[in-house]
Amino acid sequence: MRVLLSGGAGYIGAHTALALIEAGHHVIVVDDLSNSSAEAIVRVQQLSGVAVPLLVADVRDEPALRAFVQAHSPVDAVIHFAGAKAVGESVADPIRYYDVNLGSAIAVLKVMAAERISAIVFSSSATVYGQSESLPLSESSPTGIDLANPYGKTKRIIEAILEDAASADPGLAAIALRYFNPVGAHPSGLIGEDPSGVPNNLMPYVARVAVGALERVGIFGDDYDTPDGTGQRDYIHVLDLAAGHVAALEHARAGYDVFNLGTGVPVSVLELIAAFERAAGRSIPTEVLGRRPGDVAVSYCDPSKAGRVLDWIASRTIDDACRDTWRWQSRNPAGYGSAADRRAAASGSQLGAGAA
Ligand code: NAD
Ligand code: UD1
Repeated sequence: MRVLLSGGAGYIGAHTALALIEAGHHVIVVDDLSNSSAEAIVRVQQLSGVAVPLLVADVRDEPALRAFVQAHSPVDAVIHFAGAKAVGESVADPIRYYDVNLGSAIAVLKVMAAERISAIVFSSSATVYGQSESLPLSESSPTGIDLANPYGKTKRIIEAILEDAASADPGLAAIALRYFNPVGAHPSGLIGEDPSGVPNNLMPYVARVAVGALERVGIFGDDYDTPDGTGQRDYIHVLDLAAGHVAALEHARAGYDVFNLGTGVPVSVLELIAAFERAAGRSIPTEVLGRRPGDVAVSYCDPSKAGRVLDWIASRTIDDACRDTWRWQSRNPAGYGSAADRRAAASGSQLGAGAA
């Protein structure tokens, strides 16, 4: 099938683009590059040997998106990754988060209706479970919009919009994938996570410390009620996550459905740092700090519904994720930046071969 990836130049989008191509599908990408580099698409093309048309635009620009879809008709499905994702920023600037995230989802659904595209897979998040007490988290665990931050609320609201859209249109297949903690990189070391500024999340922070760009990892609390006192999360390798999107598309049926994508295995902050030390062959300086406001002690999922319905299971370990993150980070200490700059200087264009 031909699949439009909104936000396909981003971390999860680029890995999913490659997985789709490897599974025999065709991919087109729209991304405004607000949190990514066209270099990611250049690398996907390099790895796959296939051209990936890229429209550099905000997905809320419906006429531009429609024209792009028409130029690549027929498009069979959309995977909607585009959105802003920094939790702290969403608290500081909620209107921008509602505007970008809700506006993007609505624009994509309108273009899909106009162009008769009948399947959408949406990047939701474990954050929709909030402070749920029951573990592991299953798709029927409580969610709400009384979540701690506007980012999480946008995810929950978009899920509700998709559910309403699917009940109004019996031909529409809408799937929300609730990602747990995506980590890792492509084993080639060519594509990976490239956060701008100081990373908020643990794995990219640890990777920057390992490469010497940051001094030490602050551990946000060692007094949780967990085996070693640090927070536990369900870290899923981005390649497993990408495979989950391919499975979701290939099993899409009319109606709305939701799946957890995680490993089902809780890993603590200290365990992740120890795994990274093994992968990088160097010690990672740490410092115990206070708890981060809003953090839950433990979050991990029951991934069995995705196993049953999508025939998907996460197969990679935290050691695999640390090894691949280290390869990516050590080969690209400045992320895509330096390669993208070199390519731009050589070609006179920021976009290189990836633009369409
Ligand atoms: P990312 O920032 O790397 O990718 C998002 C992409 O969307 C970026 O390339 C960005 O430039 C693009 N974008 C943003 N707003 C846009 C707009 N209006 N129009 C066009 N493009 C736009 O993030 P990611 O980690 O790859 O996450 C992808 C999706 O998964 C996001 O929706 C995110 O909220 C969700 N998610 C991520 C995580 C995580 O920890 N990475 C966890 C759960 C859910
Ligand atoms: C983050 C997001 C959440 C999103 C989830 C999915 C925040 C506040 N929340 O949560 O919305 O759904 O990712 O990927 O960003 N930690 C440290 N030191 C650090 C960074 C993190 O000790 O420098 C700890 C945290 O306290 C937590 C664990 O590491 O126990 C993982 O943190 P992080 O990578 O930020 O992910 P989440 O907290 O799960």
